[in-house]
Amino acid sequence: MSDMKALILGGKSGLLGQALDQVLQKHEWQTMCPDRNELDVFNSSSLTEYIEKNRVRIVFNAIAYTMVDQAEEEDESAYDLNRKLPAVLGKVCKSSNIGLVHFSSDFVFDGKKNTPYTTEDSPNPQSVYGKSKYEGEKVLLSKPWDKLLVIRTAWLFGPFKTNFVDKIISLARKKDSLNVVHDQVGSPTYTLDLARYTLNLVNKQTSGLYHLANKGRASWCELASEAIKCAGLYCRINPIQSSEYPQKANRPPYSVLDCSKYNMVTGKSPRPWIQSLRDYIYHYQ
Ligand SMILES: NC(=O)c1ccc[n+]([C@@H]2O[C@H](COP(=O)([O-])OP(=O)(O)OC[C@H]3O[C@@H](n4cnc5c(N)ncnc54)[C@H](OP(=O)(O)O)[C@@H]3O)[C@@H](O)[C@H]2O)c1
Repeated sequence: MSDMKALILGGKSGLLGQALDQVLQKHEWQTMCPDRNELDVFNSSSLTEYIEKNRVRIVFNAIAYTMVDQAEEEDESAYDLNRKLPAVLGKVCKSSNIGLVHFSSDFVFDGKKNTPYTTEDSPNPQSVYGKSKYEGEKVLLSKPWDKLLVIRTAWLFGPFKTNFVDKIISLARKKDSLNVVHDQVGSPTYTLDLARYTLNLVNKQTSGLYHLANKGRASWCELASEAIKCAGLYCRINPIQSSEYPQKANRPPYSVLDCSKYNMVTGKSPRPWIQSLRDYIYHYQ
């Protein structure tokens, strides 16, 4: 029990970090979630000192530069957080002989496939965000060790921080109709499920690259329609093409994640995103 001490980077304010904090605490872990004023995550000595002083056994890195469009103009910041930080964390965790769980993204893929992406598929990111996330994975996986987990996930929704589902529900309360992109298809994922599934992998003491997302697939338009239905609202959703909603960064038209490696290793399977969406909306909206 005394070994269950986790440092959650991004745990104070991030969408996933806060979910990890809640789930780990429920499973009787002792969690530490310093914010950027309390710990300089880029400073190896401060990190090592923090880890030793608090007897941290595992670091969950849910810090990232996640503003996909803004990254096109702020590539230096994106690479700092998405490539340099995992490199620093990798070195520190390895030399302290503790675990590291790092999160990556479905945006490392170009979306040219039309069947779910496995961990064996080759990334080919099409945006600065996707490229910087891929670089972050590579820097860790080029020298893998038995306490390193890299988890690609996708399309997060959940409590504690505004996300796509919240925005759609809030707009649906004000408007009669909304236009939502229908030609991008992915794996909507509930942060609290992702945190539980991540813990399952940690408990299996496995390492390497995994895909983790709720089961099934949806377009943004389908996700929006389902969210509005679950929230008991009426708002017409008009499917539109990405070309009708221009954004700075290219996004993969298809980025559904195949989680069969997770299923094989844990003997468990993620639940369908629609079920998780209902849970989220009934509990938190
Ligand atoms: N959201 C998605 O749909 C999605 C999809 C696929 C993969 N992912 C991956 O999942 C992981 C978690 O994403 P998320 O959506 O939970 O991220 P998020 O909500 O944007 O949170 C990012 C966290 O990083 C912290 N942070 C940013 N810059 C920092 C800095 N310079 N120093 C210290 N902390 C800093 C933020 O703190 P402040 O609040 O202080 O800024 C925040 O706590 C990331 O690796 C992301 O790439 C997310």
